[in-house]
Amino acid sequence: MQRLVIEGEKRLVGEIEVHGAKNSALPLLAACVLSRGESCLHNCPKLTDVYAACRILSCLGCKCERQGDTVVVNTDGLDNFNVPDELMREMRSSIVFLGAILGRVGKCRLSFPGGCELGPRPIDMHISALKQMGAAIKEEHGTLECDVGNGLKGAKIVLSFPSVGATENIILAAVTAKGKTVIHNAAREPEICDLARFLNKCGAKIDGFGEDTISVQGVEKLYGCEYDVMPDRIVAATYLSAAASTCGELTLLHTRTEDIESVLPVFEQMGCSLYTYENKIYINARRGIKAVKTIRTMPFPGFPTDAQAVVMAALAKARGTSVMIENIFSNRFRHVDELVRMGADIKTEGKVAIIDGVKRLSGAKVRASDLRGGAALVVAALGAEGVTQISDIKYIDRGYEAIEQAFSSVGGTIKRVQ
Ligand code: UD1
Repeated sequence: MQRLVIEGEKRLVGEIEVHGAKNSALPLLAACVLSRGESCLHNCPKLTDVYAACRILSCLGCKCERQGDTVVVNTDGLDNFNVPDELMREMRSSIVFLGAILGRVGKCRLSFPGGCELGPRPIDMHISALKQMGAAIKEEHGTLECDVGNGLKGAKIVLSFPSVGATENIILAAVTAKGKTVIHNAAREPEICDLARFLNKCGAKIDGFGEDTISVQGVEKLYGCEYDVMPDRIVAATYLSAAASTCGELTLLHTRTEDIESVLPVFEQMGCSLYTYENKIYINARRGIKAVKTIRTMPFPGFPTDAQAVVMAALAKARGTSVMIENIFSNRFRHVDELVRMGADIKTEGKVAIIDGVKRLSGAKVRASDLRGGAALVVAALGAEGVTQISDIKYIDRGYEAIEQAFSSVGGTIKRVQ
């Protein structure tokens, strides 16, 4: 088992590259299933979740090869519609393959994703939408058996909540369905736009993405194309948090300001200086940071739930009291107990966390319990006095490409040990 060992209180200074977005790469890899021939996804991050998605593609009969930062998928040999249980368990978000496999093959068998580190992960909205589009779906012994008979048909779908995964699954099912699908109360996340742009480049007809009503006019076939995966906005938020936690000065390269417009003002309220230019963000936190009154996680364009933990880790050392309200997931404060072990003064009740800033955090032995919660421990450890050992870093590797190399390159003392 690997651990990260971090010697803290080293100011992070320099330029740091933001890699491609996990939450975009995964639906894009699923979308490749719909396109005949070959698709090339450039800027595809080297993450365990991305490798898991590639294993699903291989298991479906596709060829999936990495060439540097590019993943090449060829779907000519696609001959299977079963995703085995062990692959579904590896990555809960593999449910996004459902819409794509149904669109291409007309049938799909996969296991129910069940609960995960963030609490229950229901897929009722995915299933109800696909049923409205004509899919027959049976749930038996934890397995979903889906069949579209004579094909999927366009439908008017109203989501009760702008679920990212459900919006993606519906788009994937709709692009080759007969007729027009209109999704009301659709998710507006930048990753949805990335998926729609990729599919449109493959020949789909999707309009309104980035807004709350998306319409998809079904087309007969899609053909592979080349596409650049968008930069990871949560990795960007993590680097900004690490700069704040270490009173550092970083320039983030290859990022997109418009994707984190709700996050940047939070760092300004902390007292950091921020400049954005072209595809770079400069942050200077040398004067130390102050508390932020209230942060509420919301669907895009609100403050992202995925940035809650890393920003909280920075606020643990801010002057004053901050409040964070988690509105998206029911069990997303598991990093708090570990931060408290490091000397943080944080109390939670239901979906509210009250963070009383302390002067110093101190190194401790802690455990990552989920992806972003694990990254929060890294952020806290980089700014803490002494040595921190983080175990269960498999969660962190799901979403951060060689995190120890990224932070070492800007002055952090962090290594991976067996
Ligand atoms: C995606 C992201 C995840 C992010 C989340 C919210 C990926 C791979 N993951 O997850 O990192 O934290 O968006 O921005 O892109 N819900 C239901 N029924 C459903 C679907 C969702 O009740 O059928 C609930 C969920 O339990 C959750 C909320 O809706 O409370 C939001 O979930 P959703 O937007 O679907 O998140 P994911 O797509 O799973």
